[in-house]
Amino acid sequence: MARILVTYGSKQGSTAEIAEWIGETLRQDGHHVDVTAAQQARQVQGYDVVILGGALYAGVWHKDARRFARRHAETLRNRSVWLFSSGPLGDAAARKDIPPVRGVATLSARLEAAGHVTFGGRLAPEQSGFVASAMAKKLAGDYRDRERIAAWAKSVSARLG
Ligand SMILES: Cc1cc2nc3c(=O)[nH]c(=O)nc-3n(C[C@H](O)[C@H](O)[C@H](O)COP(=O)(O)O)c2cc1C
Repeated sequence: MARILVTYGSKQGSTAEIAEWIGETLRQDGHHVDVTAAQQARQVQGYDVVILGGALYAGVWHKDARRFARRHAETLRNRSVWLFSSGPLGDAAARKDIPPVRGVATLSARLEAAGHVTFGGRLAPEQSGFVASAMAKKLAGDYRDRERIAAWAKSVSARLG
């Protein structure tokens, strides 16, 4: 069974929760899993597999996910790496596979990641800030699909053999 790190950059906590759900599924499959915020994840040497996720804000990954990818790039290239993005508000992520944004595609190539998936996001109705509160008026809701997230985690697990 693999030693797996699931790590994430999240501002409002919904990507953190997705990471926890991925971790739960992988544990059910018998893997040893740590789920840690990317800002806190200091070392990746001890893991066979790293799953890195980031919330999308204005077309880029949360900075903690970007920094983690850059800081650990050399080590990650020698690990099995999967990436996920979380963001789209609405049913877009449920209807079709959404490719990584450009910056994430670049990181994915650099890390030689085995795969990437985009999950729907969540936006709470009460948002501070001009842009976020305007968005929330139209788009507030939880568009994360727990079954799809679990199925993706299962597919990663199956690839680990
Ligand atoms: C100001 C703002 C900008 C956003 N920009 C994007 C975006 O470019 N692409 C996207 O898919 N989602 C975007 N979202 C939606 C967030 O990615 C979504 O709310 C996500 O679930 C937040 O994750 P977090 O709770 O882990 O911070 C945006 C949300 C806000 C508030």
